[in-house]
Amino acid sequence: MNRKQRRAAQETGGAANTALAAAGDLFQRAVAHQERGELDDAARLYKRVLGVVPTHGGTHNNLAQVRLTQGRRGDASEHFAQAIDAAPELLDDLGPIIAVLLKVVPALSTAVGRVEAAWPRRPALHEIFDCGLDALAGDPLLHTVLTSTTLRHLPLERVFTAMRAGLLSDVSAEPGNTTTYVRALDLIGALARQCFINEYVFSETDAETADANALTATIEQRLQNREPVHAAQLLTAAMYRPLYALASIDAIVDKPWPKAVRDVLTQQVIEPRRERELRTTVPRVTAIDDAVSLRVQQQYEENPYPRWVRAGAPPPPATIETYLQQRFPGAPIRPLNVEAAPAILIAGCGTGRSAIEFAQHFPDAKLLAADLSGASLSYAKRKTPAALAPRIDFVQADILKLDTLDRRFDLINASGVLHHMADPFAAWRLLTGLLRPSGVMYIGLYSELARRDIVAARQFIAERGFAATPSGIREAREALAASPFRSVTHSGDFYGTSDCRDLLFHVQEQRMAIPQIKDFLDREGLAFLGFDLPPPIAAGVRERFTAARWPLTDLDRWHELEQMQPDLFITMYQFWVQKR
Ligand SMILES: C[S@@+](CC[C@H](N)C(=O)[O-])C[C@H]1O[C@@H](n2cnc3c(N)ncnc32)[C@H](O)[C@@H]1O
Repeated sequence: MNRKQRRAAQETGGAANTALAAAGDLFQRAVAHQERGELDDAARLYKRVLGVVPTHGGTHNNLAQVRLTQGRRGDASEHFAQAIDAAPELLDDLGPIIAVLLKVVPALSTAVGRVEAAWPRRPALHEIFDCGLDALAGDPLLHTVLTSTTLRHLPLERVFTAMRAGLLSDVSAEPGNTTTYVRALDLIGALARQCFINEYVFSETDAETADANALTATIEQRLQNREPVHAAQLLTAAMYRPLYALASIDAIVDKPWPKAVRDVLTQQVIEPRRERELRTTVPRVTAIDDAVSLRVQQQYEENPYPRWVRAGAPPPPATIETYLQQRFPGAPIRPLNVEAAPAILIAGCGTGRSAIEFAQHFPDAKLLAADLSGASLSYAKRKTPAALAPRIDFVQADILKLDTLDRRFDLINASGVLHHMADPFAAWRLLTGLLRPSGVMYIGLYSELARRDIVAARQFIAERGFAATPSGIREAREALAASPFRSVTHSGDFYGTSDCRDLLFHVQEQRMAIPQIKDFLDREGLAFLGFDLPPPIAAGVRERFTAARWPLTDLDRWHELEQMQPDLFITMYQFWVQKR
């Protein structure tokens, strides 16, 4: 860059910075207006902020709240959807989003009551919605939720299960009548995408199964005869079976379809095809012959976990050390002694979300992401942004044999993995051996206490003999939702086929308690740095520890606390340790 170019860049940057500072000021003033209930003024200023920073998530969120209070539901929905686009991690806590959705689309709220009252009967579409699908079609927030995440909400799942049955019955009765479809094509496409995301976890009556099979056979026949297939038929079939399962689907993928159909074809044909291609590019770097590893591998080949759709917005770049210092102020963190680029191992990377997030967070790092499951690894590779791909090596390997690679790491992530091995502590010891001195580890392990309801549900499943197959999982979910073990419906993993198998049907699962973890850390020379808890829970716990003058690294106190709050580690014990 020459001097003239540099000056021009500085001037542009300077102007941009001034505009951003002004936008920050406008935002603060808008917030003050909103707090005083001066909603028109707040909205006017928020819109000016968006004129400068159109994708500012906080502004979209606040403006959406303002519009909701003003009763402008369409606008509110649009801005909530854009807030999610700016910060997809909002989808990780779906409860508040669903609460808003039910307000911006009141017909959904009414539908929840009607479907619940009729369940397990699937009411017809006109019984569920007074004005047909018009009240839902075109709603931006509903579209975002259906296409961006698993719908983790039982009452809404049932509404959409009934809606799907209604659509199938219409199309089966009158394949030529596509009026409903023309007006609600986007909504129906979004529902088909939701069904693929959750891997067809919605329960299916025998009549639906027969109709869906007949519809699929009709489409297959028409494709083979080179006869046209209606968008209505295609999208309805896609709500029940993945389109890639149609042998002749490739013939119509590139036709000029409406966007809703193109999006479904991309999701259900083009992306799975890409994963199949990528599978051949993942090297196997260790043998996989341990009996437990082989059983676990088979589960995750059939059901890669987790089925994530959108990663969160990239976190601000950091070094591992500064990240930990900010995360655990006061913890005894030692300098890491990283030589050049930090080496990170994601042991049991599954479908790649944490490998991608760690690569974004630590921009100097090189990552090795290893897993038993080729299907999970190809999912991970497909989801990896091109800019990160050169820094992440995805490999198929057994953790038990990673010592044969003769590599050492500054950070090892093994979250949700060790408890699926025959001897979690032996595997953890092996990984500790791969850490450089002062290297850190992020570990996630199941808590025996927190999983007591899951254990009971697993017992219920075993006694009733539900199989770990898609139909067995669907049946078990229905039975569980009507059983004393209904609390399992509160787990997000209940809402997708692979995720539910991971939660309730795992071929190998062990659980621990804090004293066992503490013993291991003491024996292996690992220092405990801190637990990773959801922010609101972490704040409450921190207050409690501070008031009692307990150090946050005192695992005996954490154990006491868990006895008092048995659901504290409902997701897992997730924590950081450092090699002494
Ligand atoms: C519950 S998933 C967790 C995935 C990922 N860590 C996450 O948190 O999203 C467990 C993963 O560990 C992998 N895994 C289990 N045992 C393994 C082993 N012995 N070697 C390598 N990977 C293993 C499985 O294949 C599976 O993908």
